[in-house]
Parts: sequence; structure tokens; C-alpha cells
Amino acid sequence: MTSYVTKKTPGNTDWFEMDRFGMFIHFGLYAMPARQEWIKTFENIPEEKYDKYFKHFNPDMLDAKKWAKMAKAAGMKYAVLTTKHHEGFCLFDSKFTDYKSTNTPFGRDIVREYVDAFRAEGLKIGFYYSLIDWHHPEFPIDVLHPRKFDDDAVEQDRGRDMKKYAEYMRNQVTELLTNYGEISIMWYDFSYDKYNGCGTYMDWMQHDGGKGAKEWEAEELIALTRRLQPGIIIDNRTGLEADLWTPEQFQPTKWLTHPQTGELVTWEACQTFSGSWGYHRDEMTWKSPKMLIELLVNTVSLGGNLLMNVGPDARGNFDSRAQKALEVYENWMKYNGRSIYGCTMAEPNFKAPEGTRLTQSVDSKRLYIHLKEYPFAFLEMEDLADKIEYAQFLHDGSEIIYTCNSTGHFSGEGQTFKDNMVFFRLPPIKPDVEIPVIEVFLK
Ligand code: GLC
Repeated sequence: MTSYVTKKTPGNTDWFEMDRFGMFIHFGLYAMPARQEWIKTFENIPEEKYDKYFKHFNPDMLDAKKWAKMAKAAGMKYAVLTTKHHEGFCLFDSKFTDYKSTNTPFGRDIVREYVDAFRAEGLKIGFYYSLIDWHHPEFPIDVLHPRKFDDDAVEQDRGRDMKKYAEYMRNQVTELLTNYGEISIMWYDFSYDKYNGCGTYMDWMQHDGGKGAKEWEAEELIALTRRLQPGIIIDNRTGLEADLWTPEQFQPTKWLTHPQTGELVTWEACQTFSGSWGYHRDEMTWKSPKMLIELLVNTVSLGGNLLMNVGPDARGNFDSRAQKALEVYENWMKYNGRSIYGCTMAEPNFKAPEGTRLTQSVDSKRLYIHLKEYPFAFLEMEDLADKIEYAQFLHDGSEIIYTCNSTGHFSGEGQTFKDNMVFFRLPPIKPDVEIPVIEVFLK
């Protein structure tokens, strides 16, 4: 077995660290303005204007079975759906609010359909639940709130009671973790108690204009979550440490460690296909196929998981751009998934040749060399000659010929090389694979 042990936490992360790849789904009223899920506060949209989205919400083409099949085909093993995002709109039939999908023209419990469809495809179920709520009458107006610039903001905020809102959250979390069977991940989002320049602070704001573990009553919320779903994985955005560390929209360059103990932690990078979590019609920064595959490979090569986001449009569809991005994963994972599932960071004695990334099976028997930059004819790798037993391209199982401690090529004779060097002979033209992978069977 590889020697990496992550810091033990109450959540069951064993399956998670094997499955490696999940789908994030950001869906809500914000799919209708189609300009990002923060649109209500970015544009300080008045309530009566935003209510039009509620009044007309009807993703009539929504078919969670289709979503689930596309996630599975892309090689994703779990999913996390926004049950409620910052706008406060609930995709489930909550008894504690009228602001829910079952009260719109659509009239259905989207969480129920998501759970049934993704579970039927064998994917583990995760819920995202926004701690932030720009609709709830007891949620104090703060630095991020859409009402903060209203002329009567102070009046609106008067009497709002954070304790009543924290209780509302516990009631809804009880519904979510009681009514939908086994839930494997709870993704709370997010804390901003240290006012750090995000948003606009005003001196009348409660709790210094921000909110964190104290305001969420996070200890009680986490205890409730674990009580209702023993073994569930909880993220770190309540402001309290739980099971999962969640770097977002950036690529770590090392395996994340615990800030105090230095232990390796269980971590998951979350990323978007484009620049937006929620559907954004006019956002054009869609990642290339190579970037999509590199994000996954780079993450697993550092012992992490990738949660890749789709934002369905207001008809309930994954739009053509999202489908194309999912097909990139499908085409690569179909042939190369073995270098991701059940894999982690390569043992420290293996040094990735330039332009490559390594992963290794957790049973230590297989090493995967991901050719991010395709080399001409040869790939040299040191400290491998005494460990290699056989090598092949993963996508087609074709043997990769190699020599040890010599290039095996007349023009390389007489050269001196580092000890224990392996020279892989590669076809001069890159195979038709976004990132080809050499599968090395170790002795
Ligand atoms: C950030 C964004 C939020 C998104 C989340 C996903 O918190 O503000 O909109 O849901 O990241 O990780």
C-alpha cells in the first residue's frame, strides 16, 4: 500500500478517496437571469423583481435521469446538488418555507428527483446547503446581502434574529437528512466572519457585518448532521474543521496539510467548466479539453478529489457547452479511468519526468505517467529500472518498449545517464488521446 495516511475524521472518507471524481450541480432561480448565482446581490435586485423568477420558475425539460446518466458516463462517482443556494430558494419540499420549487409553476421536489435518479445510476448522493440566505426574514442584512444599499436597510434589518435563522437551518437540514435516504456528503457554504473586504460593511450591521461558526451555531449544526447521517462527509466552510478541505477555483501545488498538525488531509478541489457556478449564458471562458483533463489528473496526483460543476439552464438542461465538456471526460475516463480511481499521489521516490504527472494505485502495484506534454520518441524516468516489470499505453493496452540505463539507440551510446534510468520508446505521433497515459506495472 502507498504510505499516505490522511488525518482521521468522523466522516467515512474511504470510498471518497477511491472514487476521486464527482459532479457539482448549481441550480436555482438564478438560472433564469442566467448571469451567475450571485446575481441578486451583484445587481442588488429588488425583491419584487427577483420574485418574478419565482413566479415563472418552470424548468419544464428537467430530467434528473438524463443528468445522472451524463454524470455516470463522464466517469463521476458521486454528485453534490445545491438544495438551497445563497438566494434562499429551496429545491425541496420544505415545511419551513414557502420559497420552494413545489410552490412554483414547476411544482416538483427537485431534490427528490435528483436523489432517486443519481442513486439509481449508482452514484453517491451529496447535498450543498447555503448557510447564507438572502430571502429569509430573520437573516441579518450584512456585507454580502442584496438589501444592504436599500434606503430603508436599517429598518428592514431591525429585529432580525440570527438565532431564529440558525434554528431554521437545523430544521431544514433535519428534513434533508431524514427524508431522502443515505446522504454521503454535506457541503455547507460559506463563512465570512472575518470581514475581509468582501462586500460592503456598514456600522449598523449585526455581527460586525459578517457571519461564521458562532452565528451559524455550527457546532450544533455539525452534531445534528452527524447524528442524522453517521459517516457523512462534512466540508470545512461552516468555519469549523470537519472532514473535507475544499480549495476552490485554483490548483493546489501540494497535498493539503492540516494547518496545526501538518498531517495530510482529505481534500477536494471544486471547479467550473466556465467562469460561473450557476448557468451563465454569456460567459465565454469555457475550459479547453486539455485543461479539463489536466485539472482532474493534477488533483489526483496530489491525493485530492475533483468536484466539477455543471449549471443547468432555466429549462432544466445541461446546455450544449456543458454536454461537450462532459463528453471530454467521458472519452478520456472510458480508457484512462484506471489511473484515477483507486489512485493517489505517487510514492516520494518516483520523480515525474518533465511535462508529466504521476499517480499510483493505492495498492502500490501500478504507476501511471500522464503525458501532459507529449515527448518526441523517448521519455526518460530515473529511479525506475529496478522497479519496472512491464509498461503499456493505458488507452489501448499496447506495449511500450523500454530500455534500462541506456537509450537503446546508437546515437545515445557512450552517453552517461543517471542510475536506474528507464527510457520509454514512444510513437513519434501522439495517440488520439487528450492526455496519453503510460501504465507501469511495478515488481
Ligand atoms: C463560492 C461561491 C458560491 C459557490 C461556491 C462553490 O462560495 O460564492 O456561489 O456555490 O463557491 O464552492
